[in-house]
Amino acid sequence: MVQPPVLLGLDLGASKVVAVVAVQDEGGGLIVTGASIASSESGISKGEITDINLTVAAVNRVVEEAMRTAGQTTLTGIQVSVDGIQFKGENLRDSITISNPDRVITVADRDRVMEQAANACKLAKEETVLHRIPQMFHIKGQREIKNPVNMVADTLEAEIRIIVAPGSVLENIHRAMHLSSLQGAKLIYSPLASAEAVLSREDRENGAVVVDIGDQLTHLGVFIRGSLCHSAVLPIGGQHFTKDLEITKHLGGISVAERIKRRYGTALPTQVDASEQIELEDEGRMVSRRELAEVLHARAIELLNMVLAEIGRSGMIHEIHGGVHLMGGGALLPHLPNLAQNILGRPRVVLGKVAGIQGLPQVMGNPFYTNALGAVKSLHRDLNDASGRAVRGTGGFFKIFKKWL
Ligand SMILES: Nc1ncnc2c1ncn2[C@@H]1O[C@H](COP(=O)(O)OP(=O)(O)OP(=O)(O)O)[C@@H](O)[C@H]1O
Ligand SMILES: [Mg+2]
Repeated sequence: MVQPPVLLGLDLGASKVVAVVAVQDEGGGLIVTGASIASSESGISKGEITDINLTVAAVNRVVEEAMRTAGQTTLTGIQVSVDGIQFKGENLRDSITISNPDRVITVADRDRVMEQAANACKLAKEETVLHRIPQMFHIKGQREIKNPVNMVADTLEAEIRIIVAPGSVLENIHRAMHLSSLQGAKLIYSPLASAEAVLSREDRENGAVVVDIGDQLTHLGVFIRGSLCHSAVLPIGGQHFTKDLEITKHLGGISVAERIKRRYGTALPTQVDASEQIELEDEGRMVSRRELAEVLHARAIELLNMVLAEIGRSGMIHEIHGGVHLMGGGALLPHLPNLAQNILGRPRVVLGKVAGIQGLPQVMGNPFYTNALGAVKSLHRDLNDASGRAVRGTGGFFKIFKKWL
């Protein structure tokens, strides 16, 4: 009997490492059957491994736990959501002549024009291309073609977005996977994983933004006509909100400030009674909750204005009919979506909700799992596309990566 594919999605964050295990059901859908989070030190800072032994230990812990809860012993595919302060994106275009006698565009032609467009980017010596994302194709006399393969033309023009990162950053993530016996793991840029998790096909077509507010960084991706048209990393995350509280209000250390932020914080000071006081743990001293909210409000405004500027840079601010979807732990600050709605103006702002995947409700509804779920969902789609091709071609696609005994 053929075993259904078992897929692993990982998210390597500064404050946590996450694993989800999902299995394909008989109807071809994806069901999450196992999950785990390690909130201890991940050995990762701003997307880059700073202590590989810590990273490997955290990955081993979450993978073992996720596999155990899923009751699985083998994996068919692995995908890791990655991002970082040094990741960059650029839009590029180029065209080729179709030289086949029948002028029919082949998969090789599509790959060649995308490769040629990507080559137009002057990469720094240490940079590697992580993704070449097709946006749109054009042929003479016809524009905005989604997939030109099998069409007839003399020339083919491609618009693509490339995502690049330092080779050493990616290599060391692969090294961590290798040390965790997760050979063959694919990497996906986190805004693509976020979008896969929370945006419907319609959202992407109609224009949508994902904003992942992490611990140290915020990543955003702008999607239009189904594809990524702009992406950016902002050097602000939840950690900055906590540090602001501690620096201005001396709450008794970063971990106390973090607890107070999560318990009493809000992005809208007007939502708090001006007379409300909070008693500090240990010290017994009182602080005004409204004043704490004012500190968080100032940082939130700074971050959201940066998000607005990036959406503006994409040139698509008036095309965002699918909404701005907030996610990441930082988006859990109460009233942040309300403030974001005020600052971003026209586009609808919502908290990102995972769709198109079933299983453990405590995982689906938990924003800390979003990127790992997106990674697994995108892997599932890629594997199905590839196995569809394989069935038509050589047959048999899935292979086993590792056995858990
Ligand atoms: N209820 C809450 N209110 C406000 N902030 C919160 C809340 N819960 C968690 N956070 C913040 O979320 C942040 C962690 O988010 P997340 O787990 O998405 O980050 P990460 O993926 O580990 O980091 P990065 O993406 O930067 O590598 C922390 O800074 C934390 O303070
Ligand atoms: Mg993150």
